[in-house]
Amino acid sequence: MSNPPHRLAVIPGDGIGPEVTAGALAVLDAAEQRFGFTTERTTVPLGAEHYLQTGELLTDEVVATLREHEAILFGAIGDPRVVPGVLERGVILALRREMRQAINLRPVRLYPGVPTPIAGLTPERCDLVVVRENTEGAYVGSGSTVHRGTPAAVAAQESLTTWYATERAVDYAFRLAQQRRGSVTLCHKTNVLVEAGRLWLDVMEAVGSRYPDVETDYVHVDAMCMHLPVSPERFDVVVTDNLFGDIVTDLGAVVQGGLGVAASGNLNLDGTAPSMFEPIHGSAPDIAGRGWANPAGAVLSLALALSALGEGVAAAAVEAAAASVLAELPALSGPAMGATTTEVTERVVARLGQVDPAGAGLPSSLMEQVAAVARG
Ligand code: NAI
Ligand code: MG
Repeated sequence: MSNPPHRLAVIPGDGIGPEVTAGALAVLDAAEQRFGFTTERTTVPLGAEHYLQTGELLTDEVVATLREHEAILFGAIGDPRVVPGVLERGVILALRREMRQAINLRPVRLYPGVPTPIAGLTPERCDLVVVRENTEGAYVGSGSTVHRGTPAAVAAQESLTTWYATERAVDYAFRLAQQRRGSVTLCHKTNVLVEAGRLWLDVMEAVGSRYPDVETDYVHVDAMCMHLPVSPERFDVVVTDNLFGDIVTDLGAVVQGGLGVAASGNLNLDGTAPSMFEPIHGSAPDIAGRGWANPAGAVLSLALALSALGEGVAAAAVEAAAASVLAELPALSGPAMGATTTEVTERVVARLGQVDPAGAGLPSSLMEQVAAVARG
């Protein structure tokens, strides 16, 4: 008996977005062949090109279309012809909000053979996952300014923290930790942001009591910026608020080798709308069309998508194949990469036919862990 196809929406976007997305889809074709599942794909035009032609950002109609899918693969959007912020707020943040994508999952994992700027860091010591609350905090867009442009100007920018959203993120972090090394670290600034901090600590305690097998720890966000590059082995699952997560995960991306590698998933946790998976880089207009974009971030985001869809074995194989090819590249981006976007993709596809997902040589299988949490 064969399973019904997974319904995937694909938003290639702008610049290198379509280039790396084409890479991810070629790897998906190969994964379907090898692992015997199928997908139905709908390409959705969103981004600068679409906006400049139609004036449209995220319309109700597009939202309705996307909702008919189980997952969204997103490339990147952004274009120098569009004022900064329009597409970010009007498409990316709007998508996360409309699709109730409660958390942003950002693995910070150094793959064997991948160059890191941190001297002496080894892959065994760098395998953590950041679970970032994805809907509120400083990103609720609440505030006002009076007397703008005068010395009397006052700007109020509020940060909102609800028990509901915090608990949702923290509970996911505990469930993921159960599949991993059994440790959740809260990253916050409770000594200064005492009100929001108290709420996060209370939620950690309440949720933690349901998971007695998981250890908990706490680190201030400033201290996190010291520990993460120097001793990432301190962390298994890190849960944090929206703003801290945004900052800390960029640091994490640097530690794990940079924009060519880092992947993310925006997860809807209540089944009301699709989750969305995207490399963390942007549309890179400076290199678009030249074949210099590394597709690995998009391919590893595909792996996260597959694991969230419950295809854990295929996901682990895609991750292993991408990691194995990354280890061979002389550089992770640009002309020094020694291979074009298409050539890197072809190598990942070829490697996918060879890797043994069970013994892929990676210290742990994040993809299987995410799949296990998705299965409940
Ligand atoms: P960017 O991530 O697009 O590029 C930063 C630098 O990294 C550039 O030099 C680029 O060539 C390089 N780079 C990025 N991804 C790469 C890859 N896969 N392989 C090789 N090199 C890569 O960030 P930037 O330049 O600040 O933003 C460009 C546009 O992208 C802007 O319009 C920005 O708003 C948008 N953006 C969109 C995001 C999204 O769609 N989620 C996220 C970040 C930026
Ligand atoms: Mg960021």
